[in-house]
Amino acid sequence: MATALITGPTAGIGRAFAEALAAKGMNLVLVSRDAGRLEQVAAQIRDSQGSHLQIEVLPADLSDRGQIDRVADRLRDPKRPVQVLVNNAGFGLVRGFGETEIDQEQQLLDVLVTAVLRLTHAAVPGMVTRGKGVIFNVSSVAGWITGSTYSAAKSWVTVFTEGLAQDLSGTGVRAVAVCPGYVRTEFHERADMDVAEVPAWMWLEAADVVAQAFRDAEQGRVISVTGPQYKAMATILQHAPRPLVRLASRSRGR
Ligand SMILES: NC(=O)c1ccc[n+]([C@@H]2O[C@H](COP(=O)([O-])OP(=O)(O)OC[C@H]3O[C@@H](n4cnc5c(N)ncnc54)[C@H](OP(=O)(O)O)[C@@H]3O)[C@@H](O)[C@H]2O)c1
Repeated sequence: MATALITGPTAGIGRAFAEALAAKGMNLVLVSRDAGRLEQVAAQIRDSQGSHLQIEVLPADLSDRGQIDRVADRLRDPKRPVQVLVNNAGFGLVRGFGETEIDQEQQLLDVLVTAVLRLTHAAVPGMVTRGKGVIFNVSSVAGWITGSTYSAAKSWVTVFTEGLAQDLSGTGVRAVAVCPGYVRTEFHERADMDVAEVPAWMWLEAADVVAQAFRDAEQGRVISVTGPQYKAMATILQHAPRPLVRLASRSRGR
C-alpha cells in the first residue's frame, strides 16, 4: 500500500489532506509539533477509515533544522517509500514587519520555506527512481500580493513548485502548488487575526481545497486554486501592474 507524509495534519488543510489520502487507502506519516494531538488524529482516522491503515506519527518542530532533517531521513528511507508528500505546515503573523520579533520572522521562513525546500529535496530522488510520486506544496493566494514575509514566503513556494514541476517533467513525479484563499481552519485564531469582517463568500472549506488539489494533480495542473472567486482574483493579481497590486495589498491590510 502506498504511503503519504503530511506536515501539519493536526488541523485545517493538513487534516483534510490526511483524511482524504486515508480515504484513498494510503498509509500515513503525520508530522507536526503536538505529539498528543498527532496520536488523536491517527486514532480518529483509523476509526473512520479502518484499522488496516498504517499511521505513523513523527513529532517534529519544522522551525528546527535538526528536526526537519529527521523528517527528511524518513522521506529518504528506501525501505519505507513515500509516494505523496504534502508540505502544508504553516502559520501567519498578524503584525507588520517592523512590529514583530526577528525570531518570529525567521521561524516563519524556516517553516514555510526551509522545511519545504529540505523535505522536497529529500523526497524527490526516491520518487524519480520509482517513476512516480506527487508533491503538494501548500502555498497561498497571498503569494501574489505584497503582505510582508508571509507573502514573500508563499511566493517562493509557488515559484519553487512551478520550477520543480518543470524539472520533474517526464519522470512520472508531479508537483502542485496549492494556493487557497481564506479557509476555515485554526490559522487565523492561532495568529490572533481579526477576520470578523471577511465576507462569507471569501471563505473556503479545507475539504474543498484538497479535492480541488487532487483534481488539478490528476489533470497535470501545476497551480491549484479553489473557487471561482479566487480563480478570478488569481488571474487579476498575476496580470495586474505591480503598483496596483501593492496598492490593493495595502488597502487589504488596513
Ligand atoms: N487558512 C487559510 O486561510 C490559509 C490560506 C492560504 C494558505 N494557508 C496555508 O495552509 C497551510 C495550513 O494552514 P491551516 O490554515 O490549515 O492552519 P492550521 O489549522 O493552523 O494548521 C496548521 C498546522 O501546521 C502545524 N504547524 C504549525 N507550525 C508548525 C511547526 N513549527 N512545525 C510543525 N508543524 C507546525 C500545526 O500543528 P502543531 O500545532 O501540532 O505543530 C497544524 O497542524 C499553511 O501553510 C498556511 O499558510 C492557509
